[in-house]
Amino acid sequence: MRLPRPVVLGNWKMNGLVDDARALVGAVKARAGDAPTGTLGVFPPATLIERAREWVAGAPIFVGAQDCHHAPKGAYTGDLAAPMLAEAGAQAVICGHSERRQYHFEDDATVRAKADAGLGAGLKVVVCIGETEDEYLAGKTLERLDAQLAGSLPEGSTAGDVVVAYEPVWAIGTGRTPTDQEIEAAHGHIRARLVERFAEGGDIAILYGGSVKPSNAKAILATSNVDGALVGGASLDADDFWAIYEAGLGASG
Ligand code: 13P
Repeated sequence: MRLPRPVVLGNWKMNGLVDDARALVGAVKARAGDAPTGTLGVFPPATLIERAREWVAGAPIFVGAQDCHHAPKGAYTGDLAAPMLAEAGAQAVICGHSERRQYHFEDDATVRAKADAGLGAGLKVVVCIGETEDEYLAGKTLERLDAQLAGSLPEGSTAGDVVVAYEPVWAIGTGRTPTDQEIEAAHGHIRARLVERFAEGGDIAILYGGSVKPSNAKAILATSNVDGALVGGASLDADDFWAIYEAGLGASG
């Protein structure tokens, strides 16, 4: 089933203690009302997933985890298995965020195994891809995306359970973004690959991520094949997060 557009997801990264998190979720919930037309999600640290589910109760906001291990259980000190996250209340999981690829040395095969584990636990998975600055400057963006798509996406991905997030590594947390034309080219390329490979490839949501703010959201979200945004820093401010969502309402490409 195709996720309603826009799909706007907040990746809190390693931010959030109970009091601030409750206030943030409460403020988003207060705006969300009963029935926004798109898809809204928050991805707090795993310590807050269970509470976040209570805070969003009754609102059309889903809660996800930022990572999972590929195994269902075992001797992996400090890791969290997808079934554990599901039991805590997670409804989705981000796999292969560039900060995981960079700081935890996750390669495409690992990301794919994590995505498979997430699906196996009944979670939606948000698979992140994106080129580094060196690859961008060398004109290798599409080549890199091809390799990541081929290596990271689960077989049989459907529009209801898989979301692709295009996050150029050099645009994350930097205030810099690709031009609208570059975003359109990357998303069009990703769409073509999804259509080639999956029966529902035309309907799988492709999100842009990397320095999305209220000031640039409208142009980005109106770009062809941009179905929403994966928002980092700006998702920690309810006004900014909501402004990005509103910019996407009716503007999804
Ligand atoms: P920023 O929005 O802070 O650039 O982060 C983007 C991101 O990494 C979302 O996953």
